[in-house]
Amino acid sequence: MEKTTQLYEGKAKKVYATADPNLVIVSYKDDATAFDGTKKGTIRGKGAVNNRMSNFLMGKLAAAGIPTHFVEELNDRETVVKKVEIVPLEVIIRNVSAGSFAKRYGVEEGIVFDEPTFEFSYKNDDLHDPLLNTSHALALHLATRQEIDTIRAMALKVNEVLRAFFAECGVRLIDFKLEFGRLADGTIVLADEISPDTCRFWDARTGEKLDKDRFRRDLGSVEEAYEEMMRRVFGAR
Ligand code: TMP
Ligand code: ASP
Repeated sequence: MEKTTQLYEGKAKKVYATADPNLVIVSYKDDATAFDGTKKGTIRGKGAVNNRMSNFLMGKLAAAGIPTHFVEELNDRETVVKKVEIVPLEVIIRNVSAGSFAKRYGVEEGIVFDEPTFEFSYKNDDLHDPLLNTSHALALHLATRQEIDTIRAMALKVNEVLRAFFAECGVRLIDFKLEFGRLADGTIVLADEISPDTCRFWDARTGEKLDKDRFRRDLGSVEEAYEEMMRRVFGAR
């Protein structure tokens, strides 16, 4: 499978067409941004870590019955995925307070929730990805009620599978962001990526942050955290 024309370039990935209209190739970059793209940098090796980790986790999720866009890993940075129309919702599941939740509601980070929270933001950079609820998403025709029900059920199932897996790796899954897509026939599948860019990972023993917060918050040892997560995930196989 080979790349033909570039279809899209995002902040962390490029997407290329292939000879098959139902398949595209994603290419992961080392570029990192935060705070709506206002903070920019490079995390050396990140593209390869995110590509390999995301593919591995999508495989675990597929084995647990969750349909995903994954087709085939081509090399360190490139993967063939099913072509989807991305549902413009950033779906966020939280097990423990952190980040924007802690800030918005004025609580400290680290509060363990009785049950996971589900929220979504409108994926729209110009509007800075505003938080929205189901009736807003329906009013804006971003997804149907049935699609939202499917997405919620799938996201909670993803949380169960990943939380159990990361616990085996000595990592607490604090929160994460998912994106879903529609195949040509309308089927909803898990898309985008699952990586230290899109999850918060805290070391189960020390509480050390092993994710993109090290970049967002200038904590140092950013590359080392991504590499450590690779060792945890692939070591636990
Ligand atoms: P938040 O606490 O900043 O809302 O982030 C919640 C989770 O979503 C966290 O694991 C990081 C991830 N995330 C993304 O993947 N992309 C984004 O643009 C943002 C803001 C968060
Ligand atoms: N990548 C996102 C941005 O640049 C935000 C983040 O992950 O913190 O806006």
